[in-house]
Formats: sequence, C-alpha cells, structure tokens
Amino acid sequence: MVKTSTAIQINNLSFAYGAKQVLHDVSLEIPARQVTAFIGPSGCGKSTLLRCFNRINDRIPGAKLTAGSILVHDIDINRTDIDLQELRRRIGMVFQKYNPFAKSIYDNVAFSLRAAGRTKRSVLDGIVENALKNAALWDEVKSRLHASAFGLSGGQQQRLCIARAIANQPEILLMDEPCAALDPLATLKIEELLSELKKQYTIIIVTHNLAQATRCSDNTAFMYLGKVIEYGSTMQLFENPKEPQTEAYVTGKFG
Ligand SMILES: Nc1ncnc2c1ncn2[C@@H]1O[C@H](COP(=O)(O)OP(=O)(O)O)[C@@H](O)[C@H]1O
Ligand SMILES: [Mg+2]
Repeated sequence: MVKTSTAIQINNLSFAYGAKQVLHDVSLEIPARQVTAFIGPSGCGKSTLLRCFNRINDRIPGAKLTAGSILVHDIDINRTDIDLQELRRRIGMVFQKYNPFAKSIYDNVAFSLRAAGRTKRSVLDGIVENALKNAALWDEVKSRLHASAFGLSGGQQQRLCIARAIANQPEILLMDEPCAALDPLATLKIEELLSELKKQYTIIIVTHNLAQATRCSDNTAFMYLGKVIEYGSTMQLFENPKEPQTEAYVTGKFG
C-alpha cells in the first residue's frame, strides 16, 4: 500500500447489536486522500463498520462498541465529549438509495449551510456552485438550480447527494453502495468522479461490485463474518491474495 497520512485508525474494534456481535476485532488504517473499498458477502458487516465512523449506529437502540477504538485524525471519536454534529460534518455520507430532500437543487446543496446559520446569498451561491462543480453536476443543472431535485435522473440525484455532502467541507466521504441503484452509465460517472474527489477527500466505499472495487479503489478490505480477512492494495488483493478465503471470494467461488 502506498502510505499517505492516516485518516482513520481502527484498533481492535468489536461491535454488537444487542447480544449479537457483528464485528470482531477489526483493525485497519485508512489512508488519507485515497479510495478504500470494503468488500465481502452480504451481512459480513461492511455497512456496520462504515457507520461506526460517523457514529450513526448510535441511533440504533442496543447498538454498541464492545471493544476497541476509532481515531479520526488522531481523535478518539467515541469519547463522550465528541460533538456529533461536527463529527458528521467532517465525515459526510452517501447512501445506496439516493435521497435528496423535496426541495430545489440549490436548496438541497445549501441545506446544511443554512442550518449552520450561513445565509448570506452571495456566500451560498459560491459554495453551491463549487459543490455542484466538484460533484460533476454543475453543467447539467446550472440553468435550473431552482427546479425540484426530483426532476433529475437517478444518477444526477446521487451526484446531488454527493454535492450536498461536499458543501459541508467534509474531510472524509463514506459511500455505502452508492451505485447499487444506478444504471451502468450513471455508475461510470460516479466512478470517474471518485478519482477526482480523492484529490481532496478521503473516500471509503462499500461495494458488492468487485469490478467496481478494482476500477476505482486504491486499497481494499475483504470482510467475512464480521472480520477483516485481508487488507491491502487493491491490485495485490485481487491479483495475488494471501488468504484462501480472499482468493475464493475475488474469483467468484462464493458471494
Ligand atoms: N439494525 C440492526 N439490528 C440488528 N442487526 C443488524 C442491524 N443492522 C445490521 N444487522 C446485522 O449485522 C450484520 C452485519 O450487517 P451489515 O453491516 O448490514 O452487513 P453488510 O453491509 O456487509 O451487508 C448482519 O448479520 C445484519 O443482519
Ligand atoms: Mg450493507
């Protein structure tokens, strides 16, 4: 793996929903400004692990870290004095089912800024334009910024959700199967976008699409039954896996 600075350090993490332990002793270092993919069969814990990084699992009754720690840029995010709103601003999230608000394109991107009290029109205009440009959507929507977000295609709505996350100036973007509801062309657009976005952001993408992981990630973690079986550069993990389970998975023997 090409090492840059570490964005997220996960140490011996275990996690449970009530009595059901679903992550077991996970340790990973996620490098800054690269794309890291989590792969593995359905139910292996990819989304749970991702959702630990901005603590949105906290919203699930009974969900809890049972051991270990997560450091984001050296800060333990499970400390009791962590400001969750600030944490989630720094760590944006994009979901499988694109979920713009029932608002205009402009108002979607401006939403969290207004919520944070930034209302000056000229400032908002600049941030909205920038976020839409960074999400490779500006040219397609600049003439209809005040039209409903729901008039956009699925792929455009997903890029709008990426723009909405970017407008917050996050450091890290979490993406949970962001292309699962999109057609191949819209998927390709998002994948191209990732290689641009990683210049500025640390990206972690959950995908069940192995070809997608090989196309757009620098590093891959293969998970199975709540454990990280293997973690390394994407090229090494797919072309020369060290673990027999990884090899079986990446060659399509199970999944
Ligand atoms: N809210 C929840 N309550 C209880 N169990 C859950 C919840 N969400 C996920 N699980 C369980 O945790 C395990 C890991 O799920 P998940 O992280 O969604 O896996 P993946 O994203 O790899 O498909 C699965 O056994 C799943 O059934
Ligand atoms: Mg999942």
